Amino acid sequence: MGIEERIMRSLDGVVVPGVGRGIGAMGLVRGVEVDGGRAKVLLASTGLIPGARNWIADRVREALEPLEGVEGVEVEYRAFKAKELNRVGCIIAVMSGKGGVGKSLVSGLLAIALRRRGHEVGILDADITGPSIPRMFGAYLPPGGDEGGILPVVSGSGIEIISINLMLEAEDVAVMWRGPLIANTIKQFGEDVLWGNLDYLIVDLPPGTADVPLTLMQSFPVTGAVVVFTPQSLVEMIVRKSVNMVAEMGKRLLGVVENMSYLYVPEIDKKIEIFGPSRAEEIAREAGAPLLVRIPIDPKLAALCDGGRIEEYDGELLDLLGDGVLRELSFEV
Ligand SMILES: Nc1ncnc2c1ncn2[C@@H]1O[C@H](COP(=O)(O)OP(=O)(O)OP(=O)(O)O)[C@@H](O)[C@H]1O
Ligand SMILES: [Mg+2]
Repeated sequence: MGIEERIMRSLDGVVVPGVGRGIGAMGLVRGVEVDGGRAKVLLASTGLIPGARNWIADRVREALEPLEGVEGVEVEYRAFKAKELNRVGCIIAVMSGKGGVGKSLVSGLLAIALRRRGHEVGILDADITGPSIPRMFGAYLPPGGDEGGILPVVSGSGIEIISINLMLEAEDVAVMWRGPLIANTIKQFGEDVLWGNLDYLIVDLPPGTADVPLTLMQSFPVTGAVVVFTPQSLVEMIVRKSVNMVAEMGKRLLGVVENMSYLYVPEIDKKIEIFGPSRAEEIAREAGAPLLVRIPIDPKLAALCDGGRIEEYDGELLDLLGDGVLRELSFEV
């Protein structure tokens, strides 16, 4: 292995304070050069307060000095924009024409399923009415960073999380703005976040098909969307609106999810369709996308969400959701 490759390997072990991911994975290592035994490392200063910069520079020296062939280490910082450093594979938007149907739940479960398959995953919680995602993951710390970039909070299992709501709260900004203003702010926030290298970024969209979801779908290079609905009257019309919007934006519909589909009663081993018979299959057929999963009403799941412990959830629906989305993405045309 060449010296530069050994240096890169050692740099992987240096983590960004507060984020807990390596400086390589966060996209901060911009160059390594060895000249007559002197190793020069160029790092991006994006999102790093001066204390963090010094701390990382010390760790880099400690990691490289013992290497054979290295006689001195020089660390240089340079400013980069977060979006110049980010390498995000697929962006998946989770949406619904209606509020309260479980978009945030599905976003969280999808992120967990992909993470358990060994992928690097982030969630952009674009809902301004409440920090649903941080609440589910018990990740209430305000995001770190500086004017150069915002650092995500990382969940117990290593999912990067940014909640627009927590940032607005931190900045004490009123959320009663008009749609386009909110959408532009979210777009700006999204671009200023240092995600680093991610395989999948899940965007938990606010409800509806109005300004905010529209601008978000337009301004982020969204790969595909997942539409969530519950069994109720007018569901076809509500789903059709979302499906049409996805098509109009030229995005792919990766699948649909029916939430609160039924209640399973173990004592009688029966599934009770509380909101009436499911039309999920029919709706999926009409939407021209697979029905990824029917999620039951599950008091245990609700308790885990409320307690910030959604990552402890285990169930076959995680496999159905994760594998279903991955299968659709591999059909990329
Ligand atoms: N299948 C389910 N079983 C039990 N509780 C659920 C289920 N789905 C959602 N919930 C609960 O219902 C509430 C609403 O879910 P969630 O926040 O995911 O909806 P949403 O569509 O994101 O809402 P909003 O439009 O406000 O963003 C949450 O408290 C969640 O824990
Ligand atoms: Mg939500």
